[in-house]
Amino acid sequence: MSNQYLKIIGGNSLSGRVEVHGAKNAVLPILAAGILTSEDVIVQNCPYISDVDAMTVLLEELGAEVIRNGRNIIVRGQATHARVDDLHCKDMRSSMFMLGALLATLGEVETTFPGGCSIGLRPLDIHLDGLKRMGATVEMTKSGIRCTAKSLIGAKILMKYPSVGATENLMMCATLAKGRTTLVNCAREPEIISLAECLRSMGAKISGDGTSVMKIEGVKRLFGTRFSPIGDRIVAGTVACATALCGGDVEIDGANVNHLGAVINCLQSKDCKIDGDDTYMRVRSTGRIHGVHAQSAPYPLFPTDMQPQLLCASCFSDGVSVIRETVFENRFAHVKEMQKLGAKINVCGDTATIFGCEKSDSPYLIKGGSVVASDLRAGGALCIAALKIKGESKVYGVEFIDRGYERIEDVFCSLGGYVLRTKDR
Ligand code: UD1
Repeated sequence: MSNQYLKIIGGNSLSGRVEVHGAKNAVLPILAAGILTSEDVIVQNCPYISDVDAMTVLLEELGAEVIRNGRNIIVRGQATHARVDDLHCKDMRSSMFMLGALLATLGEVETTFPGGCSIGLRPLDIHLDGLKRMGATVEMTKSGIRCTAKSLIGAKILMKYPSVGATENLMMCATLAKGRTTLVNCAREPEIISLAECLRSMGAKISGDGTSVMKIEGVKRLFGTRFSPIGDRIVAGTVACATALCGGDVEIDGANVNHLGAVINCLQSKDCKIDGDDTYMRVRSTGRIHGVHAQSAPYPLFPTDMQPQLLCASCFSDGVSVIRETVFENRFAHVKEMQKLGAKINVCGDTATIFGCEKSDSPYLIKGGSVVASDLRAGGALCIAALKIKGESKVYGVEFIDRGYERIEDVFCSLGGYVLRTKDR
């Protein structure tokens, strides 16, 4: 872990206006889709985050040309070789998108098992099962997987779980397969719709995105496009959660309030009003948080990527909260860090019970201290907690936060928070 940390002095309410950029989870698969055509794919409104940097390096190493011009990234040309470097697989889960994109264009792909945040096992069986059904041969090698396919044939694929990455991989592969692919029980996240819209603008024939059955008619080739992915609902949700907790009045541009229905249900109360439309959100809060009952699950239910933020905010509520994590098996690393600060949380299996420190008879006091983020969203969540605590906290693990939040310190400083990026000497 690096010696960088965020020094946060909490206690201020938040107010002002921020803008969210393209969603990490839409931009990454869309960049990967750029190698499905030899023509230019221009992806607009890309965030400056390290996962996007890693994806551009990966595409270049595979033989595509990638040009960053401010917030636009141009993917030019197709991959020329099919082996994904181990280094990328280890630190970026999105290297998994190379499975579908390389198989569809080069007929082969070799990769070690992709990594990502340390939040769970994250197997690839659903991806591989789908690819096999489309005619690919999958072999396990010493260090990973090799998939080959002379030709890909459309197939009916029943997914045992609506995996976001597997849905995206299979969509990409199916766009260039022969005939019709039907994906049943596929993921319905807004990022899936954004990828489908981008692929359609490249000439793909896709219908049913946003529902659990998608149909994709394979085409001979795809074309270049200029495309703007959806705004980042998780960054917007993180800012909304921070505002609900710290109090204030914050406007968030570029976020679609309809993508955050389940999160808003948890945050909204007589003390917190949230409204907006498909390009804008406004959060007004007194800073008083109430106990919640929530359970993460595939979209449109509560997103696992907001569970750490909701849990950390619940530590400051005036009640008892129960939060269940059903998507990833190891996503409570932030609990130990909050306990270090004095929060009272009991975890039993996949369920955390949080005794809010603002409860009238609460004996618990949450004080500033040093905490370590061990994954991206836990990092965002610990920053929110630190913004609430009157006093100084240090949040380490900034390299995880930078994977998905563009200069998080600037976002919160512009709203009146005190967040300084610094390092130990
Ligand atoms: C994507 C998001 C991530 C988010 C997650 C769930 C990107 C780049 N990342 O990750 O931010 O937290 O969706 O909303 O978009 N699974 C299997 N077998 C598989 C694939 C998945 O068992 O072949 C399991 C996983 O271990 C996990 C669950 O399914 O428990 C959900 O995973 P999935 O939807 O695939 O998440 P990702 O696409 O990796």
